[in-house]
Formats: sequence, structure tokens, C-alpha cells
Amino acid sequence: MAETITITDNRTGESIEVPLVDGTVAAKAWSGLLPGVWFDDPSFSATSGADSAITYLDGGAGLLRYRGYPIEQLAQSTSFLEVAHLLVRGELPDGPQLKTWKSEIAEAAPIHENFHKRILEGFRDDAHAMGVLVSSIAAMSTFWPDSKNIEDPDQRRDEIVRLIAKMPTVAASAYRRSEGLPYVLPDPDLDYTSNFLTMMFKTGDSPYVVDPVLRDAMDMLFVLHADHEQNCSTTTARVVGSAHADPYVTVSAAASALYGPRHGGANEAVLRMLTEIGEYGNVDSFMEGVKAGEQKLMGFGHRVYKNYDPRARIVKDTAHRVFDVTGTNPLLDIALKLEEVALADPYFIDRKLYPNVDFYSGLIYQSMGFPVEMFTVLFTIGRTPGWLAHWDEMLTQNSRIARPRQRYTGPADRDVPAIDER
Ligand code: SDX
Repeated sequence: MAETITITDNRTGESIEVPLVDGTVAAKAWSGLLPGVWFDDPSFSATSGADSAITYLDGGAGLLRYRGYPIEQLAQSTSFLEVAHLLVRGELPDGPQLKTWKSEIAEAAPIHENFHKRILEGFRDDAHAMGVLVSSIAAMSTFWPDSKNIEDPDQRRDEIVRLIAKMPTVAASAYRRSEGLPYVLPDPDLDYTSNFLTMMFKTGDSPYVVDPVLRDAMDMLFVLHADHEQNCSTTTARVVGSAHADPYVTVSAAASALYGPRHGGANEAVLRMLTEIGEYGNVDSFMEGVKAGEQKLMGFGHRVYKNYDPRARIVKDTAHRVFDVTGTNPLLDIALKLEEVALADPYFIDRKLYPNVDFYSGLIYQSMGFPVEMFTVLFTIGRTPGWLAHWDEMLTQNSRIARPRQRYTGPADRDVPAIDER
């Protein structure tokens, strides 16, 4: 059986045979047969927009691999910085490489004093942390104008280190500003995640003691969020990056997409949903409302996973370890009941709706002391290496500028009427 398909234009009787390559059919092939005919796929759900060696998803089987390594193994036995190295450099670091990588990141962690004084202080006191972060990442491009040299691999490498290193510093500073707390500078003697937790929660002059269970949980959550193939925000990064914009505005655009409640903003929306449900006894009536189309069950459903999101399973297991330290989040019972009802109800089963990575993560974040406005900020810290790996890969491939076509549904050709005839 040939691994090909045949496309016939019945208007002309002309046919072409097109090879099936890695589950795709090259668009160039049919453009020759069907000039000016576009495949209509507005949300790109049946479109491959890139060749990528970074992450592999199998939605039916619920598989996720970064550079071939299963997420379960990476979550269990590697740190976030090891995974960041895997994503952006292509391989897990060995001992000496990890040591060098850690010190590069630690050295680049501080942000310019002007950032605190002139940028962060410019926001309203009640500004949402994601609005602050998205704006601040874009503002970084004004501090490093050389980042526009995107065709220089060494320049790209420097910017990748800077963005991974500074994301926790800016994120923690955005939080401290909103709480009216003094900024805490990064400590090069702390590991990446301990440093972030310290910059977030240190008060007064006494040293901040990072709980190892919470640190490990946070670090693993960063690993689980590090990349996810051509999701909305990563596709945004590749599209903006294809215009040869600098990496700061590219990552800012990606973070803007992530902010949406259908995407990374879902972890915050889940917590608000659980709080609104309020108590265990309200779950059934809430679910009736979901089935009536009154609201979505946030944290459920996925464009690719038509099975349990493998990350959700790991997050759920992690929750119990965190709650052993922080005490069980009172909203957990509501979340567990929602999952129990959904996994047994034909409405959700027929639509293949399962918990995704955002369903349980917010419960952990809240129990660790993060306000809901910080949840998508945490997702951003985790996803930054993924966005940068795709940005770098796209430029290495000398990809053309992203420029899809459309199906025009507007008025036909017409003349402009004089104003008194309109
Ligand atoms: C992330 O893509 C990625 O990889 C993203 C991500 C990553 O790591 O980057 O995994 C992170 O964004 C996870 C998703 C977080 N979002 C949410 O939890 C928000 C709630 N979920 C939905 O908004 C929705 O499931 C999406 C946006 C995630 C997926 O939307 P699709 O693929 O466009 O699915 P759809 O809207 O076409 O839904 C198909 C059917 C519809 O019902 P019918 O019209 O057929 O009757 O399922 C229903 C939908 O109404 N449906 C839901 C639902 N999600 C889909 N019904 C109730 N609750 C939901 N959550």
C-alpha cells in the first residue's frame, strides 16, 4: 500500500498523487493542482504549521514527550533547569554542563534598577500580575536593543538565557509591587526555584526558609508546563518570531495569548469557578448548568488530549504531597467531585472532556500562598523555555513569514457612494 493520497480536481479531471510524510501532506503539492484554493481551517485544528523536533503529543493515548523523553520520567527525575536546557539546547545537560548552565542563569537573574523604579512602579496598585508581566517582558526589548539581531545564533543564545533567568525576578517583583512589599533581589547561591520562592515570599531581614516539599512541587510544576507543541501561545511565538521581531516582544506576545482563560488563564478561572461553586452540595446543579451550555467546566477539555492529560494526573498526585505540608485546600473536595461527576456523565464522555493541566494546579498554587492573579504568571515562567526553543528552532529553519490566506465572505466589488447617498 503506497503511503500516498491522490487529489483529483473534478472540474478538470487532473489528479496528483501526494506522499504522506510523518502524518502530513505537503500544501505545496496541491497548490500546484489547485492554485487559489485554500483549505479552510480557521482554528488550525487540522493544520500542521511547523516542523518541530521539540515536543511530541499523542492526544488519543495521552502521551507527552520533550525531545523524546516521557513527561512522567522528566517530572520524576529532572529539575526545571535541566528540562529548560533540554528544550533550548536539545539535550539534557551532563554534570559540568548543568553547573555552567545554572551559573549562566543565576548571573543573568537580576533586573535593571530602572525596571523597578520606572516600569513596575508605573502600574496601578490593583494591576493584574499578568498585565504587568506581559508589558514588562515587552519593555525588556528596550533594555537590550541588540536582541533585534535575531539572525545571530550567539545573540539568540544570550537572549534565551536572559529571558529564562529574568522571568522569575520580574514575576516576583510584580507580585511584591502589588502587595506593597519591598523587592527581593535574586540570590545566586540559591537554586532557580528556591530563588523564585524567596523573591516571592521573603519578609523582613530574616532569611527565608524554603520548604523542600514545596520547592520540589513548584519545580516540577514548571517542568510540566515547560512546553506543549503548537499550542496557542507557542504558535503565537512562532508567528510573531517569523516576522523577525525580537525575542522579548515575541515572548510577550506568547504570554498575551497564554493569558486568555481558554488557554493558560484557565488555572485562575478554575479557582474562581471552584470558589463560586462554594460547596460540595452545589456541584450537581453547577454541572447541570454546564450541560445546559450556561458555562464551561474550566480546567476540562483539550484540543489535542481526548484522554486524561498526563500532566493533570501528575499534578493531582503532587497536590497530596503539598497539602501534607500546607493543609488540604478546602476546595479540593469540590474539584474531586466535579471530576467524579464529569468522568461518569455522557455529556463529558461523549465530548471526550477530561481534566487538563489547569484543573488541579491552581489548588496547589493557592495552598502555597500564591494569589489567583499569579497563577498564569507561574505558567509563564514554566513555558518560557518552550516558547524560546520554538522561536530558536523556527529561525534555525529559516522559516518564511507566517501569512495564511482566508475565505472572503464580505461584499462584492462596489463603488463608493457620495456621503449624502450613504
Ligand atoms: C491549556 O493546546 C494546548 O496544548 C494548551 C495547553 C498547553 O499546555 O499549552 O495544554 C494549556 O490551554 C489547557 C486548556 C485550558 N483551558 C480550559 O480548561 C478552558 C476550558 N476548556 C475549553 O474552553 C476547551 O475545552 C478548550 C479551549 C480547551 C478546547 O476547545 P476546542 O478544542 O475548540 O473544543 P470545542 O470548544 O470545539 O468543544 C467541543 C465540544 C463543544 O460542545 P458541542 O458544541 O459539541 O456541544 O465540547 C464542549 C464544547 O461546548 N466543551 C466543553 C468544554 N470544553 C469543550 N463543555 C464544557 N466545559 C468545557 N471545558
